[in-house]
Amino acid sequence: MTTKNYRVIQWATGTVGKAALRHFIQNPELELVGVYVTNPEKVGKDAGDIAGLPKTGVFATDDVEAIMALEADCVLFAPLNMAASTLDLVCRLLESGKNVISPAGPFLPNKYFPEQAARIEAACKAGGVSYHGCGIHPGFAGDILPLTLARLMTRIDCIEVTEVIDKLRNPMIYTEIMGFGADPEELLANPRRAPDTWKYFYSSMEMIAHGLGKEIENVTSRLEVSRAKNDIVHPHGVVKKGMVGGQHYEWTAWVEGAPLIVYHFYWQLGTDLDPLWEIGDARYSVNIKGEPPLVCHLMGAPDADGRNPFHGLPWTGIVGATVVPQVCDAKPGVVTHLDLGVVQPHGLVRRG
Ligand SMILES: NC(=O)c1ccc[n+]([C@@H]2O[C@H](COP(=O)([O-])OP(=O)(O)OC[C@H]3O[C@@H](n4cnc5c(N)ncnc54)[C@H](OP(=O)(O)O)[C@@H]3O)[C@@H](O)[C@H]2O)c1
Repeated sequence: MTTKNYRVIQWATGTVGKAALRHFIQNPELELVGVYVTNPEKVGKDAGDIAGLPKTGVFATDDVEAIMALEADCVLFAPLNMAASTLDLVCRLLESGKNVISPAGPFLPNKYFPEQAARIEAACKAGGVSYHGCGIHPGFAGDILPLTLARLMTRIDCIEVTEVIDKLRNPMIYTEIMGFGADPEELLANPRRAPDTWKYFYSSMEMIAHGLGKEIENVTSRLEVSRAKNDIVHPHGVVKKGMVGGQHYEWTAWVEGAPLIVYHFYWQLGTDLDPLWEIGDARYSVNIKGEPPLVCHLMGAPDADGRNPFHGLPWTGIVGATVVPQVCDAKPGVVTHLDLGVVQPHGLVRRG
């Protein structure tokens, strides 16, 4: 089998970016040629030092123009957010002839982001390259995974995709910003995850619906919360007794007057909660109701304590890194899983 090397740039080295960077350094079929960072402490560092791997001879820079000028096939673009100015950067990278894979929203432009969609598509055409949105969810657990599992069904009534994260076991700096510790009534009236956040996940819902030959009519959303039974101390603060310690977001895509796709997000700070949703360890689950009914759990292999860790962030980088060759070889434009077909991730099996 012939192998071709693809030259890659890692843009931002947070949790997601670092997982992709490690892959780029270790996969013999990919050649790391650049790393962009914002953190001044990382500027000038060898990429290997940032990734916790041997030295690479590739040094991190905060010079946008130097990255733009690099000869590269693909950029894994994983900054904190996708503000208007970051969309400009994505378009410049595309126009400079580099394919872009990104987990930053809008993950895949859709009808709710018409301006961004049109700009990304035009930039792809100008550069003769492709753009692909990557991630665990959106990007995998709520689109390609259920669509693949649908092959095992002979009738589908409803597809439920559930994300479970214990934020005590998997602390995130955003805990307070996300509404943990808030007054329950206040949070229900003003959810921190805006009621229309589902629009960022709409590409995933639409991909399932289109894959099944259906059109989504509308999407509804719902939030319920659980309360801390006692003060909960977490790495980034304290949730006082009676305040929000758990959140369940539910987004439902309706097709022909009935729910076809339902996304559940259960985020809990430990288990000292009322009510306690008995949902187990961190995971993504796909539950397809129909004939024959099916359940599939996607979770990290158990740690030494027997519990399943949350790998959603590294998976978001890895699922983008493992699709680099296919995105580089795709026809110019925005490419989804449907365009890519079955991805064949070379370079993973390394003996000796
Ligand atoms: N689709 C999915 O399933 C999914 C899942 C998780 C995350 N995401 C998205 O993936 C992206 C990265 O997430 P993450 O967990 O890696 O975040 P993170 O750990 O907070 O890292 C983000 C990195 O962005 C850079 N950065 C910091 N401030 C910035 C700013 N003001 N503007 C632009 N870049 C800045 C920094 O890179 P340096 O340290 O290199 O300077 C930082 O380490 C986010 O956009 C997130 O929404 C998507």
